Amino acid sequence: MQVAESRPVPLDTGWVRAQFPALGGAALDGAAHSGAALGGAAPTSPRRIFLDAPGGTQVPESVVSAMRTYLVESNSNTDGAYELSRRTDELIAEARRYGGAFVGGDPDGIAFGQNMTTLNFNLVRAVGRTLSPGDEILTTALDHEANVSPWLLMAEDRGLVVREVGLTEQLDIDLEDLRTKLGDRTRVVAFCLASNAVGTVTRAREIADLAHDAGALAWGDAVAFAPHRRIEVGALGLDVVLCSPYKFFGPHLGMAWIRPELAAALPAERVRPAAEVPAGHRFETGTLSHEAIAGFVAALDYLASLGSGNDLTAKLRVAYDAIWGHESTLAGALGAGIARIAGVHPVGMPGDSAARVPTFGLVCERATPRRLAEALGDEGIYVWDGNFYAKRVVETLGLDLDEGLLRIGLAHYNTPEEIGRLLEVLERVVRATANPTER
Ligand SMILES: Cc1ncc(COP(=O)(O)O)c(C=O)c1O
Repeated sequence: MQVAESRPVPLDTGWVRAQFPALGGAALDGAAHSGAALGGAAPTSPRRIFLDAPGGTQVPESVVSAMRTYLVESNSNTDGAYELSRRTDELIAEARRYGGAFVGGDPDGIAFGQNMTTLNFNLVRAVGRTLSPGDEILTTALDHEANVSPWLLMAEDRGLVVREVGLTEQLDIDLEDLRTKLGDRTRVVAFCLASNAVGTVTRAREIADLAHDAGALAWGDAVAFAPHRRIEVGALGLDVVLCSPYKFFGPHLGMAWIRPELAAALPAERVRPAAEVPAGHRFETGTLSHEAIAGFVAALDYLASLGSGNDLTAKLRVAYDAIWGHESTLAGALGAGIARIAGVHPVGMPGDSAARVPTFGLVCERATPRRLAEALGDEGIYVWDGNFYAKRVVETLGLDLDEGLLRIGLAHYNTPEEIGRLLEVLERVVRATANPTER
C-alpha cells in the first residue's frame, strides 16, 4: 500500500478535521444540549467537541473506507490457495511492517490482538511459565490495570511476588522507589510510558535501563503515549511494548511488539499446528480481525500524511513532531484556563510541561466528576469521568474509586476554539453547581 502524499508541517488543523467524518457532524439530537443537568443556559454551539481521546479517538474516512474495501474485496481467512486469502496474507504481512515502523522495531515482533488487555494477559501468562516461585515483578501505581492485574493473577498462580512502585508528588513514577525495590529476584518491570488518567510521560529510558541493570525485562504500556508521542523501542530500550490502535485513529484493535528473540523463546499459549513465524504471530490466538488490521494500516497512512520524508518511519517522525507542536500549545492553554476556574483542580504535571501528554485529570470540589461530565455532555462537550482503570492513581489521590476524576483528553484534531468553549462551559457548570439557583 502506498503511503499517502505528505502534508506540510506544522499541522493544518482544517485539513486534519476534514479527514474525520465524525468531527464535521452536528451534535446528537434529542437529549443533547438540553442544558438541563445543572440548570445551565441554552445551548450556544451545535457542534460536538470530542475531548475524550484517551478513551478512544475518532477515525478518518480513509480508515472507514479501508475496512469496507477489505470486507468487500478481500474478505477471507489466511493461508488459503486462492486470491482473496493471498490478499489477506499480504495485508497482515504489510500491517506487521507498518507496526514495525510505528514502534521503530523489527516487524517480526509485531502481534495483533483483540485489544491491549487481552494481548497482555496472553503475554504475561507466557512469561509466567518461565518464572519460579519467589521471582519478583515490579508494577507501578501510575499504570492502567491492564498492565497490573495480569501480573497479579499470574503471580498468584506461580507463587511470585509483585511489588508496586509509588508516585512522586507530580504523579510520575518514583525512580528512587523503583531503585529500592529492584533486586536480584526482579524479572520484569511493568510500567506505562504515559498515564491514561493524568497524562504524565514517564522516564521510560531510565526505567528500562534500571530494569536491564537488574537483569529484568522492560515491559512498557504505550496505550496512552502512542497517540501523542512516537514510540522508538530501540531508543527507549523496551523489550515489550503494547498499544491500542483505536486510541490513535484506527479501529478497535490491540498491538504488541515483543523483541523477536524474546517472542521466539517464550512458551506462548497457542494451538499446536499454528505457525511459529514470524515470532509475534506466536501470540496471535485464532483468527484476527482482518478488517481492523486493514483499518490500522490506513490509520498509519493517515498519521504519515501529517509528516514528510522518504519512507513511513521518516514521515511518522515528522508527523509526531507536528502533533507535539500543536498539542503542547493546546495543553498549555487548557492548563492555564483550568487553573483559573475555582472548584476544579488539575493534578499532576503542569499544563505546559514537556513531561505530559494532553490528558488532564481534574479533582472536582463540589460536584461529582460524573455530574460535571453530564453537564458538559449536555452541551455537546464529550469528556470522561471515573477511574479509567487507573485504580492506584485514584486511590493515591485519596479519591473515591467509583467517582474518580474528571478527565479532559485532547487529540491533535482539537482546536484552540474548542478549548475556549470547554473552558467557558466548564466555568459555568462548576459555578452553577456551587450556586444551584444561578442560571
Ligand atoms: C494506559 C492504558 N493501558 C491499557 C489500556 C487497555 O487498552 P485496551 O482497551 O486496548 O485493552 C488502556 C485503555 O484505556 C489504557 O488507557
